[in-house]
Amino acid sequence: MKINNVHYRTIWEKSEGIIQIIDQRKLPFRFEIKDLTELEDFETAIKHMYVRGAPLIGVTAAYGMYIAAANASDSDICDTLSRAAERLIATRPTAVNLRWAVESQLSIIKNTSNLDPIKEKLLINARRITENDEEQCRMIGVHGLKLIEEIAKKKNGATVNILTHCNAGWLATVDWGTATSPIYHARNAGIDIHVWVDETRPRNQGAKLTAYELAHEDIPHTVIVDNVGGHLMQHGKVDIVIVGSDRTTYTGDVANKIGTYLKALAAIDNNIPFYVALPSSTIDWEIEDGVNSIPIEERDSDEVDFMEGVAGSKVEKVRIVPETSRSANYAFDVTPARLVTGLITERGVCKADKESVLELFPEKK
Ligand code: MRU
Repeated sequence: MKINNVHYRTIWEKSEGIIQIIDQRKLPFRFEIKDLTELEDFETAIKHMYVRGAPLIGVTAAYGMYIAAANASDSDICDTLSRAAERLIATRPTAVNLRWAVESQLSIIKNTSNLDPIKEKLLINARRITENDEEQCRMIGVHGLKLIEEIAKKKNGATVNILTHCNAGWLATVDWGTATSPIYHARNAGIDIHVWVDETRPRNQGAKLTAYELAHEDIPHTVIVDNVGGHLMQHGKVDIVIVGSDRTTYTGDVANKIGTYLKALAAIDNNIPFYVALPSSTIDWEIEDGVNSIPIEERDSDEVDFMEGVAGSKVEKVRIVPETSRSANYAFDVTPARLVTGLITERGVCKADKESVLELFPEKK
């Protein structure tokens, strides 16, 4: 999507052995591009959230595996890559796309021992994962558009109000985003839309990233603090909730940014459809019980204790919690399938239950 009318993806190859990303820690105040050339760069970029969002974490890890191979000089390439895989998978625990992408790379190198073909195969596969992510997100938009169209029709063309949480936008993927792809498609189809953007404490991915994206795409939007959604829903100001996911079990439980569960509860209480947009790389085909089995990342309490903003031309961090208080930073929660109206995937929209998911993905039966 566009920044200042220039089309960007979130990750690209600059030249052989140099992968570039947008350093998302700096947005919306600074636009900086960073080179990733060593495995450590990829680990740092994922762990410290230069890149974030489940699909983009997966794509970045896939390129990380390629770079690990490209920099290997020994004949012990398989060991080098299995160590690289462990290090990359350890960076963030909740988003399943990370493990999925690394395993996809490991499966590619089976039965190959020569360094050059391995490098080339990993690069080709990283490119395939990148292209697929973009296409899958585009298709999520094509399918999700129908839901927005139906609401617009029922409202006789009046503005459709969509609430979203965190950043499941193009910055969280290669392009288009997951939750935002139906929004961009609706805009392109000429539907009158408005987006409520949850600020999403503590890192404020909504206020900092989703608002930035939507502003650069000229999509009407309003940033709200995290506790406003329920009030808006009670007063008929939300027509549909669309969020992304970091891991969705094949039974339909959805792990997403902390606070998503509360939005789903408010939505069901107010009879508002609650949809989750995700590519199939976000589906965990092994776990049945999301609430009890999905690992929830706990991050540094500094993210809760401090807030960052711009003062004049300087980006500053200020403490907002007393130094003597403890804080906890759970990064994700799990919304049980029973609260989810439907899943919007690249293959279509389905109910959040095992039968419907497996009907869309019969090869997983
Ligand atoms: O901690 P983050 O910023 O990586 O969390 C991102 C989210 O929770 C997104 O909603 C999710 O990854 C879906 S992204 C298309």
